[in-house]
Amino acid sequence: MTSRRDFLRTAAGAIASAAAVRSQAPAAHVEVMIGEPIGTIAPEIYGHFIEHLGGVIYDGVWVGENSPVANEGGIRRALVDALKAIHAPVVRWPGGCFADSYDWRDGIGPRGSRPARTNFWGGSEPNSFGTQEFLRFCDLSGAKPYFAADLRSLPARDFYQWVEFCNSPAGSTEGAARRAAQGHPQPYDVHYWGVGNESWGCGGNFEPEDYASEFRRFTAWVPQYGHPLAFVASGPNDWEVDWTRRLMRSMHEKRLTDSIFGLSLHYYTWNVSGGRTHDWEKGKGDALDFSPFEWYELLARGNDMEQIIRNHWAVMSETDPEHHVKLIVDEWGAWYKPGTEIGPKYILSQGITLRDALLSGLTLDIFQRNAEKVAMANAAQLVNCLHSLMLASGDKFVLTPNYYVFQMYAPHMGAQSVRAEFAAPGLTYDRNGRPASLWGLNGSASVAGKQLTLTAVNPSIDQAIETEIVVRGGSVISGNGSVLTNTNIHAHNDFQHSDAIRPEQVSVAVRDGRVVHRFAPTSVTALYLTLG
Ligand code: AHR
Repeated sequence: MTSRRDFLRTAAGAIASAAAVRSQAPAAHVEVMIGEPIGTIAPEIYGHFIEHLGGVIYDGVWVGENSPVANEGGIRRALVDALKAIHAPVVRWPGGCFADSYDWRDGIGPRGSRPARTNFWGGSEPNSFGTQEFLRFCDLSGAKPYFAADLRSLPARDFYQWVEFCNSPAGSTEGAARRAAQGHPQPYDVHYWGVGNESWGCGGNFEPEDYASEFRRFTAWVPQYGHPLAFVASGPNDWEVDWTRRLMRSMHEKRLTDSIFGLSLHYYTWNVSGGRTHDWEKGKGDALDFSPFEWYELLARGNDMEQIIRNHWAVMSETDPEHHVKLIVDEWGAWYKPGTEIGPKYILSQGITLRDALLSGLTLDIFQRNAEKVAMANAAQLVNCLHSLMLASGDKFVLTPNYYVFQMYAPHMGAQSVRAEFAAPGLTYDRNGRPASLWGLNGSASVAGKQLTLTAVNPSIDQAIETEIVVRGGSVISGNGSVLTNTNIHAHNDFQHSDAIRPEQVSVAVRDGRVVHRFAPTSVTALYLTLG
C-alpha cells in the first residue's frame, strides 16, 4: 500500500466503470440572504503556488534574460500578464517539499556564481531563480509573496536572517547591504512566512509536539521592523485531525496560539477508485481519459473539502475558541496518475480538462461559504504542474480551464460572502455497485456595494437546471454572466488547440427583482447581478 507520504519520501513518482447516472427533474431554487453575512472573502483564497519542481520554475516562470521567449528580466511575460489579468493576490514559494531542503543564500548574489545543488525532486537545481527573482515576479504580477521557510535542514538563525535580508531597513544590516547590492535598497516587507512545509512528512517527519517546539524556536524574536509578520504553521494533511488537535494543544500549552496567523491544510483530490483502494498509486485516474463515473467521483471527492475544513475548524476551537488562527489551504487541486506530462522533465505536469474547472469552481465556492475560516488558499501549482492555470514550454503558452474559473470568480475577491441556499435535485451515480450522491447545483454568493456575484457548478453530464434565484433583502435590477462549459467532458486546451475551451457570455433574465437562469450541464457559471 502506497501513501502520498511514501511517494514523497522517495520523491518518485480506476476503476473505469461506465456508470449510469440519473438525475431528477431539473427545477431548482436559490435563495441569497443579503442580511446573513458569513465573512469577508479574503482575496488571498485566489492564491497560487510555485515550487522548484519539474517545469514549474524553469521554463514555466523563469526563461532567462537571454531567452527568445518574451520576458521581463528573465521572467516569462505571458505568465505575468495572465496573472495581472486575474488580479493574482499572493504566490507561495519555493515549495512544497523543496522548501525544507532549500538554503535561501544559494539563490542570492550574481547568478553566474550561485551554486548548483541537488533538487529534492531529482536532478540539479541551478538556483538561477532565487529570492529577488521571486520578489520581482511578485512585483510584476501584483501578487504578495508568501515564503515557505526551511525548518527541517536549516537552523532558526537562517530563518530570521532571511527575514532580515528581505525586510530590514535600508543600510541597517548586512542583509540590507546584500539586498542593495542586487539593486533593491528598500525593504520588501514580506508579510507571509510559512514555517516549514508538511512537517508531518517530507518536512521532517515530526510529531506535532516536536514541531510545536521547533515553531517556537523559529518564530521567537524574529525581527519585525514595525510590520507584524504572519506566520503559518505546518498544519494537517487532508482528514488527519489528530495532527491538528495535538499541534493546537501543544501550541496552546506553549502560549503560542496568538503568534500563529494560520494553520496550513493540504488536500489533494486524487482517489477515483470509488472506495476500492486507498493506495496512493492505484487510486489515481488519468487526467484526460476518464469515464463518467470518474467524472462524478472526482468531483464528489473534491467536495469533501468542505467537511475537511469543518472538521479541522471544530478541533481548532477546542484550544482556540475565538478562532484567532485561520485555515490556510496552501495546497489544493487534482492529482492524477502519470501519463499526460508535457514532456519527461516536466514531472507532475498533467492535462487540465473541463472536469478540473468544475473542481476549481466548487472548491472556490467552498472557501467562500467558509470565508470566516479560510484566510488564504493556493492552488497547486500555477504552471506546468498538478492543478495548473497555465501550461508553458519554450515559446508555447496556453491558459487552462482552471485559469478561466479564477477569472470568472474574481469579483468575489474582497466582497462580503453571504448565505446562499441551493435547493436542487441531487444526482445519484453508481459507485462500484452502490448508489452514491452529489448535489445537483451548488455555489456561493457575495456582495460588494450594489454588486451581487453568484457562482455555481452544475456537475450533471446531461441535465441543464432551470433555476429561480431570489435575493432576500434585495432586488435584482439587471445582470450578465459568464459560463464555462463544453459538450465534451474531456475538453481541454493544449499547445495545438489553445482555444478548445473558454468562457462565453450569457444573458440573464430578470423578472420582478428575481432571476431565472438555466445552468447548462457540466458547467461553471458566474452571474454578476446589480441590486436596486
Ligand atoms: O505540490 C506537490 C507536492 O505535494 C508538494 O511539494 C508537497 O508539499 C505536497 O505533498
